[in-house]
Amino acid sequence: MTTRGNGYTAPVPLTFTLDPAVTPALRAGVLDLWTDVSNARGAVGFVPPVTPEEIRPELVRHLVAMAEGRNRLLVGLDESGTVAATAFFSFNTHRLMKHWVWLYTVMVHPKHQGQGYGRDLLAAAAAEARGFDGITAIRLTCRGGHGLEDFYGSCGYREVGRVPGAIRVAPGDDRDDITMLLTLA
Ligand SMILES: CC(C)(COP(=O)(O)OP(=O)(O)OC[C@H]1O[C@@H](n2cnc3c(N)ncnc32)[C@H](O)[C@@H]1OP(=O)(O)O)[C@@H](O)C(=O)NCCC(=O)NCCS
Repeated sequence: MTTRGNGYTAPVPLTFTLDPAVTPALRAGVLDLWTDVSNARGAVGFVPPVTPEEIRPELVRHLVAMAEGRNRLLVGLDESGTVAATAFFSFNTHRLMKHWVWLYTVMVHPKHQGQGYGRDLLAAAAAEARGFDGITAIRLTCRGGHGLEDFYGSCGYREVGRVPGAIRVAPGDDRDDITMLLTLA
């Protein structure tokens, strides 16, 4: 935390890095983050309770895609150097869709949520995407019922599609699959 002259205490900004070195510490940090976010009911592909071992195969798929150049990781580290936020870019292979990217697994650690880090993460993602050759938009999907469309809306995205009930988080609990789009100026 940093205290300003008016007494307002602002959180120390995260440090964002695109394509961080994939060290054992980074892998463990992302896995811990993903597990903690999932168990705090975050909408990142799992339903709590979930263990790191259940998430690890999905992380490995992300890491393989990164090694093959299909995905890129944007990571946010807190002041202690701990992984506090992530977003994964995924590039299209379809020849007619190479001018936009997907953004997946957008998450901020529960202990850091609600302080503006999510908005910082998406601003950093947009800034990086503007530097990708030929990329003009970011597209993502989110689970209904979490207010996420409002979060993304506050970051400049607009809702461009919604499939009712496409995500079954539990029997009798079907959520909309919402598509959001950010056009890069
Ligand atoms: C969604 C998430 C990334 C937002 O990060 P965050 O650091 O908590 O968000 P911020 O503090 O930057 O909030 C930015 C704005 O969005 C709003 N917002 C954040 N989460 C929201 C939610 N779930 N519903 C509605 N609004 C939300 C905030 O109120 C704030 O608005 P304001 O500036 O008008 O006050 C984070 O809560 C998270 O990791 N959630 C769990 C994982 C998840 O569900 N990810 C989405 C995958 S599609």
